[in-house]
Amino acid sequence: MAKLVAHMRLIAGAVALAFMVALSAPVSAQQPSSVNPTADAVKEQQLLQQLKMIQGRGTIPDVKSYVLEHPVGRDWQEFHNVTLRWIGAIAILGMLAIIIIFYLSCGMVKLESGRSGRTIVRFNAFERFVHWMTATCFIILAITGLNVTFGRPLFASTFGSEAFTTWSEWAKYAHNYLSFPFTIGVVLIFLIWIGGNIPNAIDVEWFKRGGGLFSDDHPPAGHFNGGQKAIYWIVVLGGGTSAVTGYLLLFPFYGTGISGMQLAEVIHATVAMLFIAAMLGHIYIGTIGMEGAFEAMGEGTVDVNWAKQHHRLWLEEEKQRSPKGARAQPAE
Ligand code: HEM
Repeated sequence: MAKLVAHMRLIAGAVALAFMVALSAPVSAQQPSSVNPTADAVKEQQLLQQLKMIQGRGTIPDVKSYVLEHPVGRDWQEFHNVTLRWIGAIAILGMLAIIIIFYLSCGMVKLESGRSGRTIVRFNAFERFVHWMTATCFIILAITGLNVTFGRPLFASTFGSEAFTTWSEWAKYAHNYLSFPFTIGVVLIFLIWIGGNIPNAIDVEWFKRGGGLFSDDHPPAGHFNGGQKAIYWIVVLGGGTSAVTGYLLLFPFYGTGISGMQLAEVIHATVAMLFIAAMLGHIYIGTIGMEGAFEAMGEGTVDVNWAKQHHRLWLEEEKQRSPKGARAQPAE
C-alpha cells in the first residue's frame, strides 16, 4: 500500500512538473510561425526578417561586435553607394551646367557707369580673415569629403589602389582636422554678420525683380541683398548641420549608436552635396560673374559706382554716417 502511495505521488509530481514546464516555455514555442534562434535548421534569412539582426555571444568587451548581421546597414550602404552619388552628381553637375548656361547667355554683370575712381570700405580685415579661413577650410572639406563618396569608383583604378589609399588617408586627416577651424569660422560668420542678414520686405522685392541679374534693373539693397542673405543662411544652417552631424561621425558612439550614426551620415552627406552646389553659385558671382565684386573680399573696398549699382541703400546709409565720405577713399 505504502509503495502504491509513493508511486502515485511520483506520477502526480511528474504531471505537475510537466504542467509547469509547459506554462513557462518560451512564447516562441507556443507560436509555430515564429523563429527559434537556437534551432539547428533555422534559416538565416528567416532570422533576419524576424529579429532585424543576427546577434551572437562573444568574449571581448566590445559588445557591439557581437552583432553579425544588421540589414539596416545594407540600406545605408545602398544609400552611400547609389542614392548619394546620384544626389551629388545631380546637384553639383546641375549647378555647374546652370552657371555655364547663365554665363554664356548673360555674361559678366558689368559696372554700368564704369569706375568712379573712389572706393568705399566694405569689409574690414577681421571680416575678410574669417571669410577666407572658412572658405579655404570649406573647399578642402568639400574635396576630401567628395573623395569619400566618389573617390574609389573615379580614381582607384586610374591611379592604382596604393596611391589612392595614400591620398585618401591624407584627405581623411585633412577632413577631420580642418573641421575645427571651419566650425569656428561658421560661428564667427553667424555672429559678425547676423545684424545685416535678417530678411525683410526689401529682399522680397529684390527677389521679385530677379536681383537685377536678368535685366538692367537695379533693385535697391542694403549692406547685403536678398541673394547674399540666402547664402549667409545656407552657410550658417548648412555649416551648423554639417558640423553637428560630422562630429557625431568623428567621435563614434559618444553621441549616438549605429542607427544614429547612419542617419547622421545621410544628413551630413546630403547637406554637403547641396551646400557645395550652392557655394559654386556664390563663387561664380564673387569672381567671373560680377565685375568689381571680388575686391570687396580681396582688398576690402569697392568702387563707389559698384556700391551705387548693387547696394544703393547701404551707400546712402554710409554717406549719412560720414557725410564727408570718411570711409570712402580715392582709389590708388
Ligand atoms: C564641420 C565639421 C565637419 C566634420 C566634423 C566632418 C566630418 C566628417 C566625417 C567624420 C565624415 C565621414 C568620413 C568617412 O566616412 O571616413 C565625413 C564625410 C563627408 N563630409 Fe564631412 N565633416 C565636416 C564638414 C563638412 C563640409 C563643410 C563638407 C562639404 C563641404 C563635408 C563633406 C563631406 C562629404 C561629402 C562626406 C562623405 C559622405 C559619404 O560619402 O559618406 N563635410 N565628414
